[in-house]
Amino acid sequence: MHVRTVTVIGAGTMGSGIAQVCAQSGWETRLFDAFPESLEKGMNNINHFWDKGISKGKTSLEEKEKWSSNLKLYTNLNKAVEDTDLVIEAVPEIMKLKKEIFIKLEKIAPKHAILATNTSSLPISSIANVTTCPERIIGMHFFNPVPIMKLLELVKHDKCSEETIAFAQSIGKVMGKETIVVKDVPGFATSRLGVVLGNEAIRMLSEGVASASDIDLAMKLGYKHPMGPLELSDLVGLDVRKDILNSLADAFDDESYRPHQLLNKLVSEGSLGKKTNKGIYNWSDSGKTERTDLPE
Ligand code: CAA
Repeated sequence: MHVRTVTVIGAGTMGSGIAQVCAQSGWETRLFDAFPESLEKGMNNINHFWDKGISKGKTSLEEKEKWSSNLKLYTNLNKAVEDTDLVIEAVPEIMKLKKEIFIKLEKIAPKHAILATNTSSLPISSIANVTTCPERIIGMHFFNPVPIMKLLELVKHDKCSEETIAFAQSIGKVMGKETIVVKDVPGFATSRLGVVLGNEAIRMLSEGVASASDIDLAMKLGYKHPMGPLELSDLVGLDVRKDILNSLADAFDDESYRPHQLLNKLVSEGSLGKKTNKGIYNWSDSGKTERTDLPE
């Protein structure tokens, strides 16, 4: 299937990153968010990345202008979705919200359009089964920072067609991603391992095993991870991590997946990580510093 237009729903960290890569891939890219301020923030993130790319000599001004011209912002869902070939939903990990969106998408998107969700842990079948077209619904799970991370995890539920999988694989290739195809099991192949490591690191921090930066350094130097589990949790968003852990605990009926109380407290106080300048660490333009005021 030929792709001309892609619609991304949700201009948060993941949605704006996905829209950026779609625009760079040459597609007409429509970034939708119900809130104009979220669109503005998402666009700032994209421009910041492109400007940094220019200053690093990785990108040219001409390329930035060409990519910008591929990208349009929408607060009207109908307009964002009409005539589109692919929709990638990247709203918060709330099943009710995702189901409502897919019910609407089935009504307003063209019949040929593939409808993808970027959920990091919710069952794709539960989302697909609220529509009468589950065969064209698939999980397309991207990683943060989307323009840099090479993996695209494709999640195949029972009713997903082979054509939809082949389409998503070809889309991933144009985006410069390596794709893997994974069964529709809670946490897929990535999130389950990732959040468990992060939650355990938070437990160790609360037990005073070591400072946050020493726990991170342990995994960077001892295991050659590019980032430590605590700074990575701040990068992904502590609210996102908390939601994934709760959905795993529910799906597996296993309380050992529940978020540690320190994680719950950080989210309750609004410390969501890098995006709020405060999480497990304090964040600023000059980097991160250890917090001395973590909740008890
Ligand atoms: N424009 C163009 N290229 C850029 C760029 C820009 N603005 N910024 C960076 N790059 C390029 C760099 O030039 C570099 O390219 P080369 O490898 O060709 O040299 C590459 O991108 C890496 O950039 P940096 O060297 O500046 O970055 P780094 O080495 O400090 O690494 C990182 C940063 C990629 C984030 C690394 O720390 C990392 O991989 N961390 C782990 C991230 C991770 O695990 N993400 C997954 C989170 S889980 C998730 O997202 C799923 C979920 O469901 C929540």
